[in-house]
Formats: sequence, C-alpha cells, structure tokens
Amino acid sequence: MSEDEKIKQAVKSAYGTLATSRTIPLEQGCCGPATNDKLLRYGYTQEELGSLPESVVTMSDGCGNPTGLGMIREGETVVDLGSGGGIDVFLASRKVGPRGRVIGVDMTPEMIQKARDNARKADLANVEFRAGEIEDLPLEDGSADVIISNCVICLSPDKGRVFREMFRVLRPGGRLAIADEVAVRPFTKEERENPAMWCSCVTGAITEKEYASALTGAGFKDVYVKQLRPSGDMNPAVFSAFVSATKP
Ligand SMILES: C[S@@+](CC[C@H](N)C(=O)[O-])C[C@H]1O[C@@H](n2cnc3c(N)ncnc32)[C@H](O)[C@@H]1O
Repeated sequence: MSEDEKIKQAVKSAYGTLATSRTIPLEQGCCGPATNDKLLRYGYTQEELGSLPESVVTMSDGCGNPTGLGMIREGETVVDLGSGGGIDVFLASRKVGPRGRVIGVDMTPEMIQKARDNARKADLANVEFRAGEIEDLPLEDGSADVIISNCVICLSPDKGRVFREMFRVLRPGGRLAIADEVAVRPFTKEERENPAMWCSCVTGAITEKEYASALTGAGFKDVYVKQLRPSGDMNPAVFSAFVSATKP
C-alpha cells in the first residue's frame, strides 16, 4: 500500500468510528465537540442551527461555515467535498432552493450512511450524497457552480490532485468557498507521519503560501486565503481559514 493510501485508510477508519460512535455532545473528532457555542463562533447562526435535525448539528466537524459567506446563489449546483454528516449540504440546499441541487461527496461509508439518514429526516429533495474520494471526484466535467468544503482538504495526502479535480468539475466562472486548517509553518516529515495528528486535521495542513500557490498552479484565479480566528483554536500549529478562488 502506498503512503498516501495508508493515510487515507487511517482517515477513513477515524471518521468511520466517529460516524458510528458519536454521542451527544461529541467527545472527539477533528475539531472537538460540536457545541452550540462553538458552532456560533465558527460562523453558523442560531437560526441555521435551530432549523436542522439535532443529529446533523452534532455530527458537524468543520472549522468554519463555507455556506455563510454569500457565495451560493439560488438555482445553482453546489458540491461539498468531504460532506460528513451533511451540515453544509443542508444549509446550501436552502440557498439554492428547489431549482438548484447540492451533492455531498465523502469517502467514508459510515458518513455517507449518516448523511443519507439525516437527509431523509430533513425531507430534502434537492440533496444527494455520493461515495467517493475528493482526489477522484464522482462528477462530470464543468458540472458545478460552486464547490464548498469544511475542514477536509487538510486531510488529503494529495492536495494538488484535489485542486485539479475541483478545477475540472467547476464550470468556467465557478467558485470555491472553503473552510480549512492552514499550517503556521511547514510540518516536519516526522510530524506528518503521525496518523493521529494527521486525522485530527493538524499535520496534513499546508501553509497559506503553499495553498495559494497550489490553487494558482491548478489554474484558479482570484485566490484569497483569510484567517478566520486566532491560531491555537485547535492546535497552535494551525489556524482556520476561508479560502476562495474562481475558475477563469
Ligand atoms: C473533519 S470531517 C468534516 C465533515 C464535514 N465537512 C463537516 O463540516 O461536518 C472530514 C470528512 O472528510 C471526509 N474525507 C477525508 N478525506 C477525504 C477524501 N480524501 N475523500 C473524501 N472524503 C474525505 C471524512 O470521511 C470526513 O467525513
């Protein structure tokens, strides 16, 4: 098995356990327990949180609110990379309305199952969850208007491939609206080889400069990386950021 495959297996196993064993309130996970206060600090509104089934809110494991930044319009097709329990898919589904649709992609079968169960509870007709890897998206070329993602790309061992896939799947003029962990400084090889730290969304993170340059290298323009909160929220070696870019 390649080193990249080993990382993916560790991530899949960690999030599979999380999907099946998480109780309320959350005891573990990438970004810690999904308490109401924490989610408000991450940019969700009380109205948004109150409108979702409790099992969606408690399964949330992101580091920001990629749907809350005015990037999603009515009637659009939105793709959520690493959709987990589905919180951002559900919030995006309201923004695109009945004429639009939202597709969540996740590689962990237990997460896909959880999200589909949640979609049934929320009775949403314009959402769909597909099993797949963000390095090899199960989507047609040029089929999405907006790609969102919340604390997932830092978990990928091949970010260059993820960025090329995002570029392929977006239509010209399509946008990225991503919340992710960004490294304060490059991690050492030893740090990167610690599976627990990688699976906790820490040592898989790249620096702001690496992020911007990889997105530009994949063909994106108007690349913008903005720190959301002071670093140290999860771990002093990373900070949460909002990342946006456009496909020319
Ligand atoms: C930290 S959780 C975030 C879940 C969700 N975005 C949220 O905000 O609640 C990371 C999710 O990304 C998925 N994931 C991680 N690496 C992935 C990859 N390479 N391809 C597809 N899904 C991946 C995991 O299975 C997990 O559900």
